[in-house]
Amino acid sequence: MTNKVYPVSDKWAENALLDAGTYEEKYRRSIDDPDAFWREEAQRIDWIKPFTEVKDTSFDQADFRINWFSDGTLNLSANCLDRHLAARGDQPAIYWEPDNPADEARTLTYRDLYEETCRFANALKANGVKKGDRVTIYLPMVPEAAVAMLACARIGAVHSVIFAGFSPEALGNRIEDCDSDIVITADEGKRGGKTIPLKANVDEALDHHAHVSRVIMLRHTGADVPMKQGRDIDWAEAVNNQPAECEPEEMNAEDPLFILYTSGSTGKPKGVLHTTGGYAVWTSMTHQYSFDYRAGDVYWCAADIGWITGHSYIVYGPFANGATNVMFEGVPNYPDFSRFWQIVDKYKVSTLYTAPTALRALMREGDQWLESTSRASLRVLGSVGEPINPEAWEWYYHKVGNGQCPIADTWWQTETGGHMITPLPGAHALKPGSASKPMFGVKLQIRDAEGTVLEGACEGGLVITDSWPGQMRGIYGDADRFFDTYFSAFKGTYFTSDGCRRDEDGYYWITGRMDDVINVSGHRMGTAEVESALVLHEHVSEAAVVAMPHEVKGQGIYCYVTTIAGVEGDDTLRKELIKLVRHEIGPIASPEVIQFAPALPKTRSGKIMRRILRKIAENDTSSLGDTSTLADPEVVDQLIAGRPDV
Ligand code: PRX
Repeated sequence: MTNKVYPVSDKWAENALLDAGTYEEKYRRSIDDPDAFWREEAQRIDWIKPFTEVKDTSFDQADFRINWFSDGTLNLSANCLDRHLAARGDQPAIYWEPDNPADEARTLTYRDLYEETCRFANALKANGVKKGDRVTIYLPMVPEAAVAMLACARIGAVHSVIFAGFSPEALGNRIEDCDSDIVITADEGKRGGKTIPLKANVDEALDHHAHVSRVIMLRHTGADVPMKQGRDIDWAEAVNNQPAECEPEEMNAEDPLFILYTSGSTGKPKGVLHTTGGYAVWTSMTHQYSFDYRAGDVYWCAADIGWITGHSYIVYGPFANGATNVMFEGVPNYPDFSRFWQIVDKYKVSTLYTAPTALRALMREGDQWLESTSRASLRVLGSVGEPINPEAWEWYYHKVGNGQCPIADTWWQTETGGHMITPLPGAHALKPGSASKPMFGVKLQIRDAEGTVLEGACEGGLVITDSWPGQMRGIYGDADRFFDTYFSAFKGTYFTSDGCRRDEDGYYWITGRMDDVINVSGHRMGTAEVESALVLHEHVSEAAVVAMPHEVKGQGIYCYVTTIAGVEGDDTLRKELIKLVRHEIGPIASPEVIQFAPALPKTRSGKIMRRILRKIAENDTSSLGDTSTLADPEVVDQLIAGRPDV
């Protein structure tokens, strides 16, 4: 928390796409007359058949529905490519920067991207993919990842991109859940000088998920990998002789565009389903307004394409707006800590959009890594994925941005499709650490645990009371879970699961998840998933997982494990458990701490008291609260005594 305020500079006030007055006026109109507002905003998209109805939504259980522009038709791939060819066919669509700066960079113009996409779309069709089929994409950060997504959108196939850091087991489960029988992958990925065996991971996943009939593999590193006869083909072979034109499929606005798996507080990850028309309008609009995007900007979102940020702000939003995108294969600290800033200077990046965890990792290495670069091209900075601590914010603002660039601290979720709360450059004074003000059409409320709506300056759970075009439309294959997960906590509203404070100026400050979701380096991790992995070990009888504060990652994974009778927890078991979690989920889920516990604190009815476990993980044992309802209060002292010194 900080009380600092950075007013809009004169330069920004004069030149911004939207100033304070325009924001207020537009926001008012988006709430008072959503039909007129969205009818107008939707004109940014080329519709094949124009819609007549704008919004048909209700969050009430009796007539629950979410439909936007629902009698309109469009193709989002055509909106991202075809319509740009006349005016900017030769403009770079992607500047691709390899992991190792010694390797060759690539530039794809809009015409290149269009042709590659059409060829690959034709290849998908030739391999039997039809409208509505699910296509699993497991690729590194290479232009072909965008090509594969846009090719699916072109023919009406539904992509399911799996982050290349997920394990074979996690990949296999996701392929199975969406019943996809084709996988697009590469021989290997590269990150920070290391290789990731993507094709080998796919092979392992498919050993247990045998119905996949086709694997298309991009040769990226050129590694020698086994190919399974009749199932696997080279990308190059698949697109060979395919025409560089492919008629875009006419899609209904509410036809599915993609599935993206994300973790919740219970059960296995859920396939968040987004549809076409509303998502197109939402991502294009937010990309433009949040970043004050202008034609000619060089825009760089440093997220991975395997997360929602990559979907909405590397692919669909920027390409719909005809932006020049930087796409980076690597990591901020390889070969050294100036890599990000060198890329900014090399491509004259005007907008940089990254995560607080990357900033914290770079900040602690010292400012000398900034000194050989100017970053003078930067105009706007963006932050996403987790709350940004004021210290990292100040460093980003003063050091990276030379005190010249507004920071869009964008709060949103996989479920929301795009930005929901953010300051707009030139419209809002900035408060370090505050996501600030709602996007157009976003109606927020803060509620207490009983569901009472709180007014003025307050703190509680953040809910959204009306639909917006980019909202998810369902959980793939589980209609009931959608309503129960998001709309049942506070009747008639969407509950975000985030805590939030509103200050006296009406600024929103996200305080973090209120459920059992941990945010590790901006990645969502369900405690239940990690617990399920831990109890697979034959020597584990029970496990409970909570978040602990982590200087760089924001939060780390803290595991309490009880062993079966006769087995002592030791370092060997600890290593095996870490390996097991990495195997089941992936390296992003690596536990920070495993504490062996004689027992877990439970109520008399057998419920684990996570509140106490969180406090011990945070090393804040002075305020454990009421422990009198515990079946065995002594457990708490044992846990405190056994806490490793971390
Ligand atoms: O807790 C919030 C946090 O990330 C969660 C959503 O995670 P995910 O669906 O993976 O999407 C990440 C990219 C949008 C939220 O519930 N979060 C995201 N952005 C912010 C944030 N917390 C605070 N400030 C943010 N700017």
